[in-house]
Parts: sequence; C-alpha cells; structure tokens
Amino acid sequence: MAVLIYKSLPSTNAEVKKPGYRHGDAVIAKEQTAGRGQRGNRWSSAPGENLTFSLVWEPTTLPAKRQFLLSEAVALALVDTLAKYEIRSKIKWTNDIYVGNKKICGILIEHDLGTEGMLARTIVGIGLNINQKEFEDWVPNPTSMASITGKSYDVAEVFQELFDALESRYQQLLAEPDAIERDYSELIYRKGELHPFRLPNGKLFQGVIQGVRSSGELLVESEGMVVPYLFKEIEFVI
Ligand code: BTN
Repeated sequence: MAVLIYKSLPSTNAEVKKPGYRHGDAVIAKEQTAGRGQRGNRWSSAPGENLTFSLVWEPTTLPAKRQFLLSEAVALALVDTLAKYEIRSKIKWTNDIYVGNKKICGILIEHDLGTEGMLARTIVGIGLNINQKEFEDWVPNPTSMASITGKSYDVAEVFQELFDALESRYQQLLAEPDAIERDYSELIYRKGELHPFRLPNGKLFQGVIQGVRSSGELLVESEGMVVPYLFKEIEFVI
C-alpha cells in the first residue's frame, strides 16, 4: 500500500490506470490539468486547495453485478469523514456528496472486469472541495468545507481521515454488505420528499425517491407508480 503525492498530473484516475498500481495504492495530485468528472465533464479544482486523488481497489471476490456496493461504500466514507469535521452531508444518487443543495465532493468510479463475472480492479477518483471558496462560473452548485464552516483545513490531515474511512467501509462491504446498503439508503439526498426531475427527452415530472435497488437503479414514485432509473435516465432539478 503506497500513497504517492504529485505536484501536477493530467488526472489521477488516468495515472492509476498505468500498470504497477495495486490494491490500496493512492495517488494524490496537488493540481490536475485534465481532471475528469462524470458524464464527460471536466473536474475543476484550485491547485493546492482541495483533495484530488485516486485509490485502487482489487475487489476480486465481488461479483460485477454487486459493483454498486463499491459506490455506496465510497460515498459513505465521505459522509463519515465530513461528519468528523461536524459537516452533515447527504448522498445525491449515485455518488455526489451534497451539503444542503450544494455539491462538496464528486466521485468517479471505474471498474475493470475479471473472469467469471467477478470484478478485477476498481479505480476510485475523489474530488473533495476543502479550502476553495470561489469557483469557476460553469461549476454547478459548488461548496467546500471552508465555505460551510469558515475554517481552513490541513488537506493532508483530511486525506488521512478519508483514507482510513475508505478502508473501514471497504472492510465492512466485504463482511456486511447489507449494512452498507442500509446506511446508504438512510443518507440519500431528497429521499421521501416531493421534488422535480428531468428525463433525457427534457420532460419534467414531480416524484419521490423511495430508495435504490442493490443493482444501483434509483426508485422514484410518481403518480402512484414506482419506476427504477439507471444513471443517465434521470436528472435531479436543483
Ligand atoms: C464528478 O463529476 O462529480 C466526479 C468528479 C471526480 C473528480 C476526481 S478528482 C480525482 C480524480 N481524477 C480525475 O480526473 N477525476 C477524479
């Protein structure tokens, strides 16, 4: 298990895809010149102010069809870590971390499949906003630990807390996957409340999140029917 710190990299997710990185290794970059987000977006982060890193897991005993457990465990580790700093956060499905209606952390998880339907390797890319208070105009609803509390933080110390929380949630997912699903379910942003959603065709509707399936689909009730949605099949209107 090694933790490497780089001054500048294009993207830590791209870096740990190179051969040689093994289970438990992490790569931190003080600056990313081509940080990647979900849905093909960029990830914007002021150099040195935040945490941008990727971690390698080799969950070789986990069937690929249970891969959503890894997303849940990572999101829970973020909520655990923020709670240590007295920041109460929620998980915006699938795995954005929100404080109120603002995004404090983005997670980009990429899996490699092994043989016989098992997972081989998982890359967990995390961008946690820590000390940055001003963001580029195009970034949707950003916030940071410092914006919320008015304090400033030691990025290395936050990393250590988060690294420990990730390890502990990873062990929990192997030993008690049901507990991971239960904890995730309790922390879903906007669960049980009526809110607007947008479909890929632009149509808006009002619905109530009921939970998630083990396979990761979001269950939304609207007009008396509960419909499961895959990532990209539904968007929150915030
Ligand atoms: C999102 O769009 O919400 C996901 C953002 C993920 C950003 C992190 S920063 C570290 C790692 N390296 C990348 O290029 N992206 C992820």
